[in-house]
Amino acid sequence: MVQGFSREPGTHSPLTQVGPEGIRKITLWATAIALGGFLFGFDTGVVSGALLYIKKDFHLSSFEQGSVVSVLLIGAVIGATSAGGFADRVGRRKALGLIGLVFVVGTVIASLSNGYPMLMAGRVVLGLSVGAASATVPVYLSEIAPTRIRGRLLTMNQLMITVGILVAYLVNLAFASSERWRAMFAVGLVPAVLMIAATLWLLPESPQWLVTHGREDVARKGIAALTDEETADELLRRARERVDAEREKQRRREAEGGGGSRRLFAPDVRPALVVGLTLAAVQQFAGINTIIYYAPTIIQQTGLNASNSIFYSVFIGLINLVMTLVAIKLVDRAGRRPMVLVSLGLMAVSIFMLGLAFVVDMGSVLTLTFMVIYIASFAGGLGPVFWTLIGEIFPPSVRAEGSSLSTAVNWISNFLVSLAFLPLAGLIGQGETFWIFAAICVLAFLFVSRYLPETRGRDAGQIQEALDTRFKHAPARPGDSGHSSAPQKGRSR
Ligand code: GLC
Repeated sequence: MVQGFSREPGTHSPLTQVGPEGIRKITLWATAIALGGFLFGFDTGVVSGALLYIKKDFHLSSFEQGSVVSVLLIGAVIGATSAGGFADRVGRRKALGLIGLVFVVGTVIASLSNGYPMLMAGRVVLGLSVGAASATVPVYLSEIAPTRIRGRLLTMNQLMITVGILVAYLVNLAFASSERWRAMFAVGLVPAVLMIAATLWLLPESPQWLVTHGREDVARKGIAALTDEETADELLRRARERVDAEREKQRRREAEGGGGSRRLFAPDVRPALVVGLTLAAVQQFAGINTIIYYAPTIIQQTGLNASNSIFYSVFIGLINLVMTLVAIKLVDRAGRRPMVLVSLGLMAVSIFMLGLAFVVDMGSVLTLTFMVIYIASFAGGLGPVFWTLIGEIFPPSVRAEGSSLSTAVNWISNFLVSLAFLPLAGLIGQGETFWIFAAICVLAFLFVSRYLPETRGRDAGQIQEALDTRFKHAPARPGDSGHSSAPQKGRSR
């Protein structure tokens, strides 16, 4: 089973023993919750096609085009970092409902915008909800998931993100000939309203959250409806024990003077932190979202018109989805390390060739082919496996903090790359910009082959040992001075 796709994996569900009827219900709930992932993908992807028409309507410079794309990511950093505390206070169900409402507000503002400033405002609001969904959905899913199908439910989020991207591209295509970019955004209302409706009439509150917040009576009713009275009592007793043990650990840690976030910078956690934050940055600085967010803009530069460019971007969305499915199937068989290495190697070659295709003008067919190979290499490895890894490499005591800091670094890197891409391409050339990404892939390949141990089938202690060995035997004593840039990045946040 695939584990650790959760971005905040410290949480567990009390629902360990549930019959087939219960599993069916839970799967339905999980699908409704994963609408949050779908919206995440949809709203990050839909702008790619809309941009071709917005830039004409609003006369946008390349910096302004980049800002329409990337301002969403600033909202996402804020949404992702504040959602955890919020969902702890009001509960997962209400949090998800409110996130749905923010999606609606952002969509309405973006669709009705009468100019650049209002569009930017709509995109920031959408970003808040995208970020909040990225932090809340995995936690909610892991808290309703019986252990047996936990991996499957958690990967549903990752998968729904890619489905959302693909649907966004299809919607772009549907409205391309009429050039109706407002309608492209507006389609996002459908899943957002569905998600709100689900929180009102379908979804139960997370039983784990109820137990933690002294609402055991409500939790008991919900669990009994899925199992029987006796099992419910037993499951609740175990859930309570777990919550107590977790609180006790927390108390001890605080008494020792090392609360969660300070512990994150302790010397024994440093190798995990360096690997987690470097991978978070690399996943974005390898350039993936320049393709996801700007595919039609890039394709247009090979000489095709706007609606054909949007048509070809659908292939990119499709390959992204299919290869993510392949990665999910492979990750527990092939192992994380070889998958990331092969992925980075192929990405380096394909994006180098993509750059070359622009520099020597190889035409649209070859350009598209290299783009598709690059996306396939990312989606079949680094893309989803990164999310698995940040759920695994941190020791349990700092896992939540470690994975949320990695998530934040991932969003910030995404923002920087998306904002800089168009102006940089204008300055040094499209192909040359892709060569920078190729160089980053090569460096990342070297880093991974030196420092990333295999994590598949290993427990937390073994993973930490493996990380220690790799870092101790490193030539430049990383963790002291030479390789301490990642923790510093964390500290300056
Ligand atoms: C990964 C990346 C995200 C990207 C997506 C594409 O989840 O983190 O930034 O848009 O893959 O499928």
